[in-house]
Amino acid sequence: MRDNQTHNQRIVDQFTRWARPFADLPIHSEEAGMARTLAAAAIGPDSHVLDVACGPGIVACAAAEQAGHVTGIDITPAMIAEARRRQAALGLANIDWHVGDAAALPFADAAFDVVVTRYSFHHLQQPAAALAEMRRVCRPGGRIVVIDATPSPETQIAYDRMELLRDPSHTSALTLDQLRALGRDAGLEEVLIDGYRLEALLATLADEQDMAALTAMFEGDIASGEDRIGVAAWAAADGIRFRFPLSIVAWESPA
Ligand SMILES: C[S@@+](CC[C@H](N)C(=O)[O-])C[C@H]1O[C@@H](n2cnc3c(N)ncnc32)[C@H](O)[C@@H]1O
Repeated sequence: MRDNQTHNQRIVDQFTRWARPFADLPIHSEEAGMARTLAAAAIGPDSHVLDVACGPGIVACAAAEQAGHVTGIDITPAMIAEARRRQAALGLANIDWHVGDAAALPFADAAFDVVVTRYSFHHLQQPAAALAEMRRVCRPGGRIVVIDATPSPETQIAYDRMELLRDPSHTSALTLDQLRALGRDAGLEEVLIDGYRLEALLATLADEQDMAALTAMFEGDIASGEDRIGVAAWAAADGIRFRFPLSIVAWESPA
């Protein structure tokens, strides 16, 4: 396993460069996936919500429209700067932001009603440690929601290889069964499984220097007709397109 400090530095480097493009990419605010995410979180008007690894605050700001208060935390300061920019643009007063690590949340036990994290577990070396922290800061009977890419067991290795070609801070995307097992191991009670496919244009998701290797991998699938990466890639008029396989798992924190 790569040293944790080195890995966290890799995260900060990657997401400092990608903070603005990530914040501005329309697919990250896609409405259907966001609606499913918010439904899974079951936020009430008095809920105190925590968004872990919140990035540019897309989920946090959407949650703030429904919640009493939202806290966002991310390890990359440039992402928190983007989150503040989004908050100001939307005129939301009920959010505060922190720079910090998902593996050591700087919050009291049982401080939140709802704890969510989207698209982060595949960047973590120890997602179980983050989930344990999410459980700790969630009140008994509160809700914990993880949204992430979940390749099938058959495509997991190829999916991880593809992600690593565009993002050196990728660790591994869990299968849905692996993600559900993390929840069971953390002592959480599963209350909802949902998912959605998110269509993306490959060229918008990678640095120029990574495109040749990535394109070759996708073209291999398209030419063979085999979906080895598990993202149903196709050649569209504007370039290679594919669909991220995303799952939503919600648990209740035990009383
Ligand atoms: C793909 S982005 C997702 C951002 C946001 N959750 C969203 O869905 O729009 C992943 C985020 O995880 C953050 N991250 C990665 N490892 C982290 C850690 N150990 N603690 C806190 N944030 C972390 C990164 O800085 C980045 O902002």
